[in-house]
Amino acid sequence: MKEKLEALKNEALAKLQEVTDPQILNDLRVKYLGKKGELTEVLRGMGSLSAEERPVIGQVANLVRSAIEEIIGAKQEVFQQQETLNRLQAEKVDVTLPGRQLQQGGIHPLTRVVQEIEDIFIGMGYRVAEGPEVETDYYNFEALNLPKNHPARDMQDSFYLTEDLLMRTQTSPVQIRTMQAMNGEAPVKIICPGKVFRRDDDDATHSFQFHQIEGLVIGRNIRMSDLKGTLLQFVKEMFGANTGIRLRPSFFPFTEPSVEVDVSCFKCGGDGCRLCKQSGWLEILGAGMVHPNVLEMGGYDPAEFSGFAFGMGVERIAMLKYGIDDIRHFYSNDMSFVKQFKGV
Ligand code: PHE
Repeated sequence: MKEKLEALKNEALAKLQEVTDPQILNDLRVKYLGKKGELTEVLRGMGSLSAEERPVIGQVANLVRSAIEEIIGAKQEVFQQQETLNRLQAEKVDVTLPGRQLQQGGIHPLTRVVQEIEDIFIGMGYRVAEGPEVETDYYNFEALNLPKNHPARDMQDSFYLTEDLLMRTQTSPVQIRTMQAMNGEAPVKIICPGKVFRRDDDDATHSFQFHQIEGLVIGRNIRMSDLKGTLLQFVKEMFGANTGIRLRPSFFPFTEPSVEVDVSCFKCGGDGCRLCKQSGWLEILGAGMVHPNVLEMGGYDPAEFSGFAFGMGVERIAMLKYGIDDIRHFYSNDMSFVKQFKGV
């Protein structure tokens, strides 16, 4: 029996030594050590042994078992290490590979200018108001002191949808809508950005659709000097601390007096250059003191309340600020144009 065990051990060790595959290793483990394995088979014959022989053979059997277990354990460890190594190789990440760049969007220059202007006025306590793009003749003209057949209506060639409905030609109707909604309460301090529409032939500086930002302040004792101070503060924040303004007399039916507002050229500082056509000034705004008729139509008594209003073209400001020479670029959906404003 002892010889049988020795022979079993030698055979097992020789076979196990050569194993290179974990599956075969496992098969051999079952073959030699399993419940129905060869060692168990040999030990089954122990019953026929004498009492003296039994412990001796038992000891030999244990040694054989632990010798086989040991080599299986060692092999398993080697296989496991190998597997880990293989895994590491297979799942290797090349950290030097350059990453794929994510396409990042940018803010359209018009949106950017609107946001900048909004921020400046919100900082001065204004709120942002909105109004409809399809407007009635009453809000777009009549309540703004342009009765039917008023010659100033020719200033703004309009897209009429019906006799009474049109695409708004200016953001000024929001003045009336806001005043009426306030029910005579003061102060009113709003700016209103939005699209406006005019029957213009498109060229480098005209578009049938563009954007304006309207401003309106109503209160007691609001004076021309308040308008001037507000606009001066605005242009300093928008174009730089050294920017100045100049008011020139003008006419709008809904303001009296009315002014055109120029800013000192932020490119040449007023010396004269191509941008300002050598004049040193850039025209950017229409403004004035709210006309008494308009105050009345908005529900404010002109004897008690006064106010100022202003309106500016967003495209014009963006064109001056970013040196864009054709208004049509804004609407062309040309990626090479908009991409330039990613990081601005
Ligand atoms: N609505 C005028 C325009 O479109 C601009 C303006 C607004 C003028 C407010 C004075 C006051 O030209």
